[in-house]
Amino acid sequence: MKAWLCENPIGVEALNWKELPTPNPGPQEVLIRIEAASLNFPDLLIVQNKYQMKPALPFVPGSEFAGVIESVGDGVTHLKVGQRVACLSGTGGFATHTLAPAQLCLPLSESFSAVDAAAFIMIYATSHHALIDRAELKPGETVLILGAAGGVGSSAIQIAKHTGANVIAAASTDEKCLVCKQLGADHTINYSQANFREQLKSLTNGKGPDVIYDPVGGDLTEQAFRSIAWRGRYLVVGFAAGPIPALPLNLVLLKGASLIGVFWGDFAKREPEKNTAMMNTLTEMYNKQQIKPKIDQIMPMSELMTAYEKMNARSVLGKLVLVNPH
Ligand SMILES: NC(=O)c1ccc[n+]([C@@H]2O[C@H](COP(=O)([O-])OP(=O)(O)OC[C@H]3O[C@@H](n4cnc5c(N)ncnc54)[C@H](OP(=O)(O)O)[C@@H]3O)[C@@H](O)[C@H]2O)c1
Repeated sequence: MKAWLCENPIGVEALNWKELPTPNPGPQEVLIRIEAASLNFPDLLIVQNKYQMKPALPFVPGSEFAGVIESVGDGVTHLKVGQRVACLSGTGGFATHTLAPAQLCLPLSESFSAVDAAAFIMIYATSHHALIDRAELKPGETVLILGAAGGVGSSAIQIAKHTGANVIAAASTDEKCLVCKQLGADHTINYSQANFREQLKSLTNGKGPDVIYDPVGGDLTEQAFRSIAWRGRYLVVGFAAGPIPALPLNLVLLKGASLIGVFWGDFAKREPEKNTAMMNTLTEMYNKQQIKPKIDQIMPMSELMTAYEKMNARSVLGKLVLVNPH
Protein backbone atom coordinates (compact mmCIF):
# COMPACT_ATOMS: atom_id res chain seq x y z
CA MET A 1 0.00 0.00 0.00
CA LYS A 2 0.97 3.65 -0.30
CA ALA A 3 0.14 6.51 2.04
CA TRP A 4 0.85 10.15 2.82
CA LEU A 5 2.91 9.71 5.97
CA CYS A 6 3.27 12.36 8.68
CA GLU A 7 6.48 11.65 10.61
CA ASN A 8 6.90 15.21 11.85
CA PRO A 9 3.74 17.32 12.46
CA ILE A 10 5.21 20.66 11.42
CA GLY A 11 2.90 21.20 8.45
CA VAL A 12 1.70 19.86 5.15
CA GLU A 13 5.12 20.22 3.49
CA ALA A 14 6.55 17.48 5.74
CA LEU A 15 4.15 14.80 4.41
CA ASN A 16 5.64 12.09 2.17
CA TRP A 17 3.91 9.63 -0.20
CA LYS A 18 5.48 6.34 0.96
CA GLU A 19 5.31 2.63 0.30
CA LEU A 20 4.23 0.83 3.51
CA PRO A 21 3.46 -2.81 4.38
CA THR A 22 -0.26 -3.54 3.99
CA PRO A 23 -1.48 -4.34 7.53
CA ASN A 24 -3.78 -7.17 8.64
CA PRO A 25 -6.90 -6.21 10.59
CA GLY A 26 -6.90 -6.97 14.30
CA PRO A 27 -10.00 -7.91 16.32
CA GLN A 28 -13.01 -5.70 15.47
CA GLU A 29 -11.08 -4.07 12.59
CA VAL A 30 -11.40 -4.13 8.80
CA LEU A 31 -8.90 -3.44 6.02
CA ILE A 32 -10.36 -0.99 3.49
CA ARG A 33 -9.17 -0.33 -0.07
CA ILE A 34 -9.76 3.40 -0.29
CA GLU A 35 -11.61 4.70 -3.32
CA ALA A 36 -12.03 8.30 -2.17
CA ALA A 37 -11.15 10.51 0.81
CA SER A 38 -12.35 14.05 1.51
CA LEU A 39 -10.52 16.95 3.09
CA ASN A 40 -11.96 18.33 6.32
CA PHE A 41 -10.62 21.30 8.26
CA PRO A 42 -9.24 19.10 11.08
CA ASP A 43 -7.02 17.36 8.47
CA LEU A 44 -5.25 20.69 8.05
CA LEU A 45 -4.83 21.19 11.80
CA ILE A 46 -3.73 17.62 12.63
CA VAL A 47 -0.58 17.73 10.44
CA GLN A 48 0.45 20.97 12.22
CA ASN A 49 -0.07 19.46 15.69
CA LYS A 50 -2.88 22.03 16.22
CA TYR A 51 -5.83 19.64 16.49
CA GLN A 52 -7.32 18.39 19.77
CA MET A 53 -6.59 14.78 18.72
CA LYS A 54 -2.82 14.13 18.57
CA PRO A 55 -2.14 10.70 17.01
CA ALA A 56 1.06 8.80 17.79
CA LEU A 57 3.79 9.34 15.18
CA PRO A 58 4.11 8.41 12.42
CA PHE A 59 0.51 8.57 11.24
CA VAL A 60 -1.42 8.89 7.99
CA PRO A 61 -3.80 11.89 7.91
CA GLY A 62 -7.22 11.74 6.24
CA SER A 63 -10.13 11.63 8.66
CA GLU A 64 -12.89 10.54 6.30
CA PHE A 65 -12.94 8.08 3.40
CA ALA A 66 -14.96 5.50 1.48
CA GLY A 67 -13.95 2.23 -0.11
CA VAL A 68 -14.25 -1.53 -0.27
CA ILE A 69 -13.54 -3.99 2.56
CA GLU A 70 -10.63 -6.29 1.62
CA SER A 71 -10.40 -8.30 4.86
CA VAL A 72 -12.07 -8.44 8.26
CA GLY A 73 -10.58 -9.14 11.71
CA ASP A 74 -11.87 -11.49 14.40
CA GLY A 75 -15.23 -10.63 15.86
CA VAL A 76 -16.45 -8.59 12.90
CA THR A 77 -19.89 -9.96 12.12
CA HIS A 78 -21.86 -7.16 10.45
CA LEU A 79 -19.42 -6.42 7.59
CA LYS A 80 -18.01 -8.70 4.90
CA VAL A 81 -15.26 -8.73 2.29
CA GLY A 82 -16.30 -6.84 -0.85
CA GLN A 83 -18.76 -4.59 1.01
CA ARG A 84 -18.61 -0.83 0.29
CA VAL A 85 -18.42 1.44 3.33
CA ALA A 86 -17.80 5.04 4.38
CA CYS A 87 -15.81 5.71 7.53
CA LEU A 88 -14.77 8.63 9.68
CA SER A 89 -12.03 7.30 11.91
CA GLY A 90 -9.88 10.44 12.26
CA THR A 91 -6.78 9.25 10.38
CA GLY A 92 -5.68 6.87 7.61
CA GLY A 93 -7.67 8.18 4.64
CA PHE A 94 -4.95 9.75 2.49
CA ALA A 95 -3.69 6.36 1.33
CA THR A 96 -4.54 3.43 -0.89
CA HIS A 97 -5.52 1.23 2.11
CA THR A 98 -6.22 1.67 5.80
CA LEU A 99 -7.35 -0.25 8.85
CA ALA A 100 -10.52 1.04 10.49
CA PRO A 101 -12.65 0.07 13.48
CA ALA A 102 -15.58 -1.98 12.14
CA GLN A 103 -18.06 -0.14 14.36
CA LEU A 104 -17.26 3.18 12.63
CA CYS A 105 -18.03 1.86 9.13
CA LEU A 106 -21.26 2.97 7.50
CA PRO A 107 -22.44 0.36 4.94
CA LEU A 108 -23.26 1.95 1.57
CA SER A 109 -25.99 1.14 -0.93
CA GLU A 110 -25.00 0.57 -4.58
CA SER A 111 -26.28 4.01 -5.55
CA PHE A 112 -24.09 5.86 -3.03
CA SER A 113 -21.06 7.05 -5.02
CA ALA A 114 -17.63 6.74 -3.34
CA VAL A 115 -17.01 10.47 -3.88
CA ASP A 116 -20.25 11.52 -2.15
CA ALA A 117 -19.76 8.92 0.61
CA ALA A 118 -16.25 10.19 1.40
CA ALA A 119 -17.65 13.71 1.81
CA PHE A 120 -20.79 12.81 3.74
CA ILE A 121 -20.46 11.81 7.40
CA MET A 122 -18.60 14.76 8.93
CA ILE A 123 -20.56 17.58 7.33
CA TYR A 124 -24.10 16.21 7.52
CA ALA A 125 -23.72 14.65 10.97
CA THR A 126 -22.37 17.93 12.34
CA SER A 127 -25.08 20.07 10.77
CA HIS A 128 -27.97 17.74 11.61
CA HIS A 129 -26.81 17.35 15.21
CA ALA A 130 -26.34 21.13 15.47
CA LEU A 131 -29.51 22.40 13.79
CA ILE A 132 -32.02 19.66 14.59
CA ASP A 133 -30.82 18.12 17.86
CA ARG A 134 -29.14 21.05 19.59
CA ALA A 135 -31.01 24.10 18.22
CA GLU A 136 -34.35 22.36 17.54
CA LEU A 137 -34.78 24.43 14.38
CA LYS A 138 -38.45 24.79 13.37
CA PRO A 139 -40.05 25.37 9.95
CA GLY A 140 -40.47 29.08 9.30
CA GLU A 141 -37.60 30.12 11.59
CA THR A 142 -34.69 32.09 10.17
CA VAL A 143 -31.19 30.64 10.37
CA LEU A 144 -27.97 32.50 9.63
CA ILE A 145 -25.11 30.25 8.46
CA LEU A 146 -21.58 31.67 8.56
CA GLY A 147 -18.84 30.20 6.32
CA ALA A 148 -21.81 28.88 4.38
CA ALA A 149 -19.89 27.79 1.26
CA GLY A 150 -17.44 25.66 3.29
CA GLY A 151 -17.81 21.96 4.09
CA VAL A 152 -20.05 22.04 7.16
CA GLY A 153 -21.63 25.35 6.06
CA SER A 154 -22.82 23.97 2.71
CA SER A 155 -24.41 20.97 4.44
CA ALA A 156 -26.09 23.28 6.98
CA ILE A 157 -27.85 25.14 4.12
CA GLN A 158 -29.33 21.86 2.84
CA ILE A 159 -30.39 20.57 6.28
CA ALA A 160 -31.97 23.92 7.21
CA LYS A 161 -33.85 24.20 3.91
CA HIS A 162 -35.11 20.63 4.24
CA THR A 163 -36.47 21.58 7.68
CA GLY A 164 -38.43 24.44 6.14
CA ALA A 165 -36.34 27.25 7.60
CA ASN A 166 -35.61 30.57 5.94
CA VAL A 167 -31.85 30.48 5.23
CA ILE A 168 -29.48 33.44 5.19
CA ALA A 169 -26.09 32.19 4.01
CA ALA A 170 -23.07 34.37 4.69
CA ALA A 171 -19.63 34.00 3.10
CA SER A 172 -16.57 36.05 2.17
CA THR A 173 -16.89 36.36 -1.63
CA ASP A 174 -19.61 36.86 -4.24
CA GLU A 175 -18.58 33.56 -5.87
CA LYS A 176 -19.17 31.75 -2.56
CA CYS A 177 -22.53 33.53 -2.14
CA LEU A 178 -23.59 32.31 -5.59
CA VAL A 179 -22.78 28.71 -4.60
CA CYS A 180 -24.90 29.16 -1.45
CA LYS A 181 -27.84 30.34 -3.58
CA GLN A 182 -27.43 27.29 -5.83
CA LEU A 183 -27.54 25.10 -2.70
CA GLY A 184 -30.90 26.59 -1.77
CA ALA A 185 -30.17 29.62 0.44
CA ASP A 186 -32.99 32.19 0.38
CA HIS A 187 -30.65 35.15 0.90
CA THR A 188 -26.90 35.70 0.96
CA ILE A 189 -24.59 38.24 2.59
CA ASN A 190 -20.98 38.80 1.54
CA TYR A 191 -19.44 39.62 4.93
CA SER A 192 -16.24 40.99 3.40
CA GLN A 193 -18.29 44.04 2.51
CA ALA A 194 -19.53 46.61 5.02
CA ASN A 195 -22.93 46.60 6.71
CA PHE A 196 -23.13 42.93 7.71
CA ARG A 197 -25.41 43.79 10.64
CA GLU A 198 -27.50 46.27 8.62
CA GLN A 199 -28.10 43.63 5.94
CA LEU A 200 -29.08 41.06 8.57
CA LYS A 201 -31.50 43.53 10.09
CA SER A 202 -33.21 44.31 6.81
CA LEU A 203 -33.41 40.63 5.78
CA THR A 204 -35.16 39.75 9.07
CA ASN A 205 -37.43 42.83 9.35
CA GLY A 206 -35.40 44.07 12.28
CA LYS A 207 -35.90 40.88 14.31
CA GLY A 208 -32.58 39.07 13.71
CA PRO A 209 -32.00 35.36 13.02
CA ASP A 210 -33.57 32.80 15.38
CA VAL A 211 -30.62 30.43 14.98
CA ILE A 212 -26.99 31.21 14.07
CA TYR A 213 -24.63 28.43 12.88
CA ASP A 214 -21.01 29.51 13.37
CA PRO A 215 -18.10 27.32 12.16
CA VAL A 216 -15.87 30.39 11.60
CA GLY A 217 -15.38 32.30 14.89
CA GLY A 218 -12.96 35.26 14.96
CA ASP A 219 -14.37 38.79 14.64
CA LEU A 220 -17.59 37.61 13.03
CA THR A 221 -18.93 35.97 16.17
CA GLU A 222 -19.65 39.05 18.25
CA GLN A 223 -21.13 40.92 15.26
CA ALA A 224 -23.43 37.99 14.52
CA PHE A 225 -24.40 37.47 18.16
CA ARG A 226 -25.34 41.17 18.53
CA SER A 227 -27.89 40.61 15.72
CA ILE A 228 -29.56 37.46 17.11
CA ALA A 229 -33.33 37.43 17.72
CA TRP A 230 -34.98 37.36 21.14
CA ARG A 231 -34.72 33.76 22.45
CA GLY A 232 -32.19 33.05 19.68
CA ARG A 233 -29.92 29.99 19.72
CA TYR A 234 -26.24 30.51 18.80
CA LEU A 235 -24.45 27.32 17.67
CA VAL A 236 -20.72 27.25 18.41
CA VAL A 237 -19.47 24.85 15.72
CA GLY A 238 -15.84 25.77 14.99
CA PHE A 239 -13.09 28.34 14.66
CA ALA A 240 -11.87 28.17 11.06
CA ALA A 241 -10.77 31.83 11.22
CA GLY A 242 -8.24 30.96 13.95
CA PRO A 243 -8.84 33.07 17.05
CA ILE A 244 -11.35 31.67 19.54
CA PRO A 245 -13.71 34.58 20.21
CA ALA A 246 -14.93 35.74 23.61
CA LEU A 247 -18.43 37.17 24.07
CA PRO A 248 -19.63 39.72 26.62
CA LEU A 249 -22.21 37.64 28.52
CA ASN A 250 -24.53 40.62 28.96
CA LEU A 251 -25.43 40.13 25.28
CA VAL A 252 -26.72 36.64 26.08
CA LEU A 253 -28.82 38.06 28.93
CA LEU A 254 -30.19 40.98 26.90
CA LYS A 255 -31.42 38.71 24.09
CA GLY A 256 -32.74 35.95 26.37
CA ALA A 257 -30.54 33.87 24.08
CA SER A 258 -28.84 30.48 24.35
CA LEU A 259 -25.21 29.82 23.53
CA ILE A 260 -25.01 26.16 22.44
CA GLY A 261 -21.85 24.07 22.04
CA VAL A 262 -21.79 21.54 19.21
CA PHE A 263 -19.35 18.61 19.42
CA TRP A 264 -20.59 15.95 17.04
CA GLY A 265 -17.59 13.59 17.63
CA ASP A 266 -18.34 13.30 21.34
CA PHE A 267 -22.09 13.12 20.73
CA ALA A 268 -21.42 10.04 18.54
CA LYS A 269 -19.32 8.43 21.31
CA ARG A 270 -21.52 9.36 24.27
CA GLU A 271 -24.92 8.84 22.64
CA PRO A 272 -24.27 6.10 20.04
CA GLU A 273 -27.91 5.02 19.63
CA LYS A 274 -29.02 8.56 18.86
CA ASN A 275 -26.11 8.98 16.44
CA THR A 276 -26.98 5.73 14.62
CA ALA A 277 -30.60 6.87 14.28
CA MET A 278 -29.38 10.23 12.93
CA MET A 279 -27.03 8.56 10.40
CA ASN A 280 -29.96 6.37 9.21
CA THR A 281 -32.05 9.51 8.71
CA LEU A 282 -29.22 11.16 6.77
CA THR A 283 -28.59 8.17 4.47
CA GLU A 284 -32.33 8.02 3.78
CA MET A 285 -32.28 11.73 2.92
CA TYR A 286 -29.37 11.09 0.51
CA ASN A 287 -31.19 8.14 -1.10
CA LYS A 288 -34.25 10.37 -1.61
CA GLN A 289 -31.93 13.04 -3.14
CA GLN A 290 -32.88 15.54 -0.42
CA ILE A 291 -29.20 16.18 0.39
CA LYS A 292 -26.04 15.81 -1.69
CA PRO A 293 -22.53 17.02 -0.88
CA LYS A 294 -21.39 20.02 -2.91
CA ILE A 295 -18.17 18.72 -4.49
CA ASP A 296 -15.80 21.50 -5.55
CA GLN A 297 -13.21 19.27 -7.20
CA ILE A 298 -12.24 15.61 -7.49
CA MET A 299 -8.45 15.26 -7.52
CA PRO A 300 -6.00 12.34 -7.70
CA MET A 301 -4.71 11.26 -4.26
CA SER A 302 -1.22 12.27 -5.45
CA GLU A 303 -2.39 15.94 -5.51
CA LEU A 304 -3.04 16.12 -1.77
CA MET A 305 -0.65 19.09 -1.41
CA THR A 306 -2.70 21.15 -3.90
CA ALA A 307 -5.89 20.28 -2.04
CA TYR A 308 -4.35 21.36 1.27
CA GLU A 309 -3.17 24.65 -0.31
CA LYS A 310 -6.67 25.36 -1.58
CA MET A 311 -8.22 24.80 1.85
CA ASN A 312 -5.53 26.88 3.54
CA ALA A 313 -6.17 29.69 1.03
CA ARG A 314 -9.88 29.65 2.00
CA SER A 315 -10.87 28.94 -1.58
CA VAL A 316 -12.79 25.65 -1.37
CA LEU A 317 -16.43 25.73 -2.52
CA GLY A 318 -17.98 22.84 -0.61
CA LYS A 319 -15.70 19.79 -0.46
CA LEU A 320 -12.49 18.56 -2.08
CA VAL A 321 -12.29 14.82 -2.69
CA LEU A 322 -9.13 12.82 -3.47
CA VAL A 323 -9.47 9.57 -5.38
CA ASN A 324 -7.24 6.55 -6.03
CA PRO A 325 -7.00 5.07 -9.54
CA HIS A 326 -9.18 1.94 -9.99
N1 LIG B 1 -18.16 21.06 16.29
C1 LIG B 1 -18.09 20.02 15.52
O1 LIG B 1 -18.59 18.93 15.84
C2 LIG B 1 -17.38 20.16 14.20
C3 LIG B 1 -17.48 19.16 13.22
C4 LIG B 1 -16.86 19.37 11.98
C5 LIG B 1 -16.11 20.54 11.76
N2 LIG B 1 -16.01 21.46 12.78
C6 LIG B 1 -15.25 22.71 12.59
O2 LIG B 1 -15.94 23.53 11.67
C7 LIG B 1 -15.00 24.40 11.03
C8 LIG B 1 -15.20 24.35 9.53
O3 LIG B 1 -14.83 23.08 9.03
P1 LIG B 1 -14.97 22.73 7.47
O4 LIG B 1 -14.43 21.35 7.28
O5 LIG B 1 -16.33 23.06 7.01
O6 LIG B 1 -13.92 23.77 6.84
P2 LIG B 1 -13.93 24.55 5.43
O7 LIG B 1 -14.62 23.71 4.42
O8 LIG B 1 -12.54 24.96 5.19
O9 LIG B 1 -14.85 25.81 5.70
C9 LIG B 1 -14.48 26.78 6.63
C10 LIG B 1 -14.98 28.13 6.20
O10 LIG B 1 -14.51 29.07 7.18
C11 LIG B 1 -14.26 30.31 6.57
N3 LIG B 1 -12.99 30.89 7.03
C12 LIG B 1 -12.84 32.09 7.60
N4 LIG B 1 -11.56 32.35 7.89
C13 LIG B 1 -10.86 31.28 7.47
C14 LIG B 1 -9.48 30.99 7.48
N5 LIG B 1 -8.57 31.82 8.00
N6 LIG B 1 -9.07 29.80 6.95
C15 LIG B 1 -9.98 28.93 6.45
N7 LIG B 1 -11.32 29.18 6.42
C16 LIG B 1 -11.76 30.36 6.93
C17 LIG B 1 -14.27 30.08 5.06
O11 LIG B 1 -15.44 30.73 4.56
P3 LIG B 1 -15.41 32.26 4.13
O12 LIG B 1 -14.21 32.46 3.24
O13 LIG B 1 -16.70 32.41 3.42
O14 LIG B 1 -15.34 33.05 5.41
C18 LIG B 1 -14.40 28.58 4.87
O15 LIG B 1 -15.28 28.27 3.81
C19 LIG B 1 -13.62 23.95 11.50
O16 LIG B 1 -13.19 24.79 12.55
C20 LIG B 1 -13.87 22.55 12.00
O17 LIG B 1 -12.91 22.15 12.95
C21 LIG B 1 -16.63 21.29 13.97
